[in-house]
This record gives sequence, structure tokens and C-alpha cells, in this order.
Amino acid sequence: MNGSLGTLTSPRVVAVLDRIHAAAAREDDAAKARVRAREAEVGARLSQAQRYALYGDAPQAITRAVGELVYVLTLGQAGKCVVEFGASHAASTIYLAAALRDSGGGTLITTESRLGKVHLARRNLADAGLSDLVELRVGDARQTLRVLAEPVDLLFLDGRNDLYTDVLELVEPRLRCKALAVADLSADDPDLLSYLRYVRTASNGYLSIEVPLGSGVEVSVRTVASGPRLIGPDDPRGLSLSTSTTERRISCSPMPAPPAELGERIYARARLTGEFRLRSGATSNEYFDKYQFESDPRLLREIAEELVSLLPAGVELLAGLELGGVPLAVVVSQVSGLPSVFVRKAAKTYGTCRLAEGGEVAGRRIAVIEDVVTSGGQVIESCRQLHDGGADIAAVLCVIDREAGGRENVAAEGLDLRTLFTMSQLRESRVTDPARP
Ligand SMILES: C[S@@+](CC[C@H](N)C(=O)[O-])C[C@H]1O[C@@H](n2cnc3c(N)ncnc32)[C@H](O)[C@@H]1O
Repeated sequence: MNGSLGTLTSPRVVAVLDRIHAAAAREDDAAKARVRAREAEVGARLSQAQRYALYGDAPQAITRAVGELVYVLTLGQAGKCVVEFGASHAASTIYLAAALRDSGGGTLITTESRLGKVHLARRNLADAGLSDLVELRVGDARQTLRVLAEPVDLLFLDGRNDLYTDVLELVEPRLRCKALAVADLSADDPDLLSYLRYVRTASNGYLSIEVPLGSGVEVSVRTVASGPRLIGPDDPRGLSLSTSTTERRISCSPMPAPPAELGERIYARARLTGEFRLRSGATSNEYFDKYQFESDPRLLREIAEELVSLLPAGVELLAGLELGGVPLAVVVSQVSGLPSVFVRKAAKTYGTCRLAEGGEVAGRRIAVIEDVVTSGGQVIESCRQLHDGGADIAAVLCVIDREAGGRENVAAEGLDLRTLFTMSQLRESRVTDPARP
């Protein structure tokens, strides 16, 4: 392939791709032969999981032609965010990342479940000089791709064929209109039929075509931006076969509202009853103790996952405000892979004299994280101090807006406040549950 876009033809990339394709030529046919021999032995088709066990660490790389196709498609999208299912030794990852490099940069989130391959993929990406563009998530794609902060421009599917629909279901809410889903196919594989049936049904929001390269590559363009849909058994289907996914609900909302049921559990956990003296001096027989929901590992994790979906594009650093914002920032950091700092209410007056512990904020685009905003006083004060320290504040993320003027005060400061719930929503989530007294 010729052209002035040089990454794919640079000596470093060529050397690594040659190495992977050579390994594939040596190992992939032998891996497939092991599967055929076992199938002959047992007299039945092996499941995808059984096949993958026999493939071992063989690359199973895409061909050069398919690699060049995904390079061209990614370049044509001129997008900033690509997601890949199935990195293996990173052949396809390199084609995709090369296109991002030639488009001026971006992020490629890829995922691989076999640890031996993760190691090889990392080495190959480093040797190709593309590691800076790639976030390699280790584990099962059904878990590792659950959280995607940015709209996705292209999804490349090249993992276990029977999981293509599951992975599409996870990523679909993040696919922007005109995004591409590109799936490497295998010949005559019944495990692919539910996926093909789905993307070839126009009412599901795709226009799809099979490109006859190798065993085929299904290229599907997303024709809608959002709109929840229920895939029911009466949907028109282009192909007949398995009904295993026909009952699956696909949510297509690009920025889904947090589930009311999560709000209900937060409220149930944090609302204490008894006799409490309030800051105002008055007495109350109920008290909302925000630390209760932050100390519950499951709730904290679910809240963090919801907060990740509120992160604006381009955020480089999370800043958790003392005290309640700190555990949230830590878990959002774990989920999103972004680093975090911990912001004191006032800078230390000795030693490092730091306001933010754990890293530098100067010159970095940050998201400030707080648990509850009441009047917004502390958020505003901390944001001013961070700004004075050179931070570029992209947004303030908060779990609960107590609706006590905080939203207005923070907005008046020119800050973008993004909250998961208002206190009224939490209370309403409780009263709408008929099972609750
Ligand atoms: C066909 S290979 C990918 C080849 C790679 N795209 C390339 O061109 O070099 C499929 C890969 O998906 C990985 N995989 C299979 N199931 C997975 C899952 N549930 N989550 C993450 N990776 C998975 C396998 O370990 C395997 O390395």
C-alpha cells in the first residue's frame, strides 16, 4: 500500500507486522488442525471455548489484506476512539493504531483474555512505537469493555465469534451515528449467525455489507445515534437460525441516565433514622449519611461506573476532593484507567505545601470529583485553587445535588457541574417502590 501516510510503512511497524505474520504462518494452521483433529475424534463441532483452548497462544492474526482494510476504514472515519475485541499478538491492533496515528492521534481500547498473549501484544506495540495510543485491557471483553468514556468511532470484532453480539451490545450505546462495526468472519460458522442477523436487519440501526476478503469481513455502519430498542422474537430477520439473542434488550442511549434502582439503594443505605442534631442546631429524626454509600464496595463501584459515563472527552486526571471525593476518585480511576490526585481542603503549610497529593495538576485537563454538592462553597473554593495551580477544569462530577443552590452557584463560576442524582430523585426512587413501606 502506497501513500504519504507513513505509519504502516515505517520500518518499525513493518518489522513487527512481518514478525507477527510469520508467526501466524507457522502456528495458525497447526492450531486449526488441532481443532479439526479433536472434532473428528469426538464427532461433533467444538464450542468456541473449546476451540480457543486448543488454539493456545497461536496468533490467529488477521491477514495483511484485512489489516489494510481496517487501516483504511479507520483512517476514513477520522475518528478519535476505536475499540477492539481480541488483541492476541496485536496484528490488527497495530493496523488500527497506525491509522489513528495517521489521523492525528486518538485512543484505541483493546482487550485480551490470555495472559501470554497480553505480554506479546505489549511487546509488539512497544516495538512498533504505538503503545502511547493503545489502552490494553486484560480480561474478558464482557467485563473489560463495560465502561467506555468516549463516543466510539469504530469497533473491530475479532475475538470469540459467539461473543460478537454480546460485545456489540456493550459498545452499542457508545457508537456514534455513522460509526463502523467491523467484524472479521470465519467460514460457515453457526456462532456468527446471530450477529450477522442483527447487523443485517436495518431496523436495528445498521447498514451492513460483507466484504469478500479471506473468510469475509462484515462492515456495518451505525445509522442512528440513539434510541432504546427491544429486540423481540417478531423482529424481521434476514437469516434463520439460533434464537438465543432474540430476547436481549439493547439499550442505545448515548448517555444513559443512572438507573433509578441505584438511587434507591443509595438512599436506603445512607438514610439513617433516630435522633440527630443538625448543623443548624435543630433536631431531626432522619439523617442522610453520605459516607454509608461510599463505604459499601458494590455501591461505590456502581456509582464510579456511572460517573465514568459523565467524564468529558480529553480528561487526563481525576481530582477527588477531601474527604468524600477521594474514595470516588480512586474507584473512578480504577474503572477508567485515568490517574487521580487527592485535593486537600487547604494546602499543607509544611513540607511539600501541596494542595493536590499524588501528582501535578498544572497544565492538565482535569475532572473534579465530589460526593455531594450542597451550596457548592467547597467545590468552588477547591476549583479556584486548582485553577490557580494551572489546572484546566473540564467538569465537576458529583453523585448527589442536594438542591440547596449549589448547581446555580457552581454554574455562576463558569464550571460544568454533572451530577448523577438530585436529592429529590433519591427520595422519589424510594417512594415509587410499592414494596417499600
Ligand atoms: C482471532 S484472535 C485475534 C487476532 C488479532 N485481532 C490479530 O489480528 O492479531 C482472537 C483473540 O481473542 C481473544 N479472546 C477470546 N475471547 C475473549 C474474551 N472473551 N475477551 C477478551 N479476549 C478474548 C483470544 O484469546 C484471542 O487472542
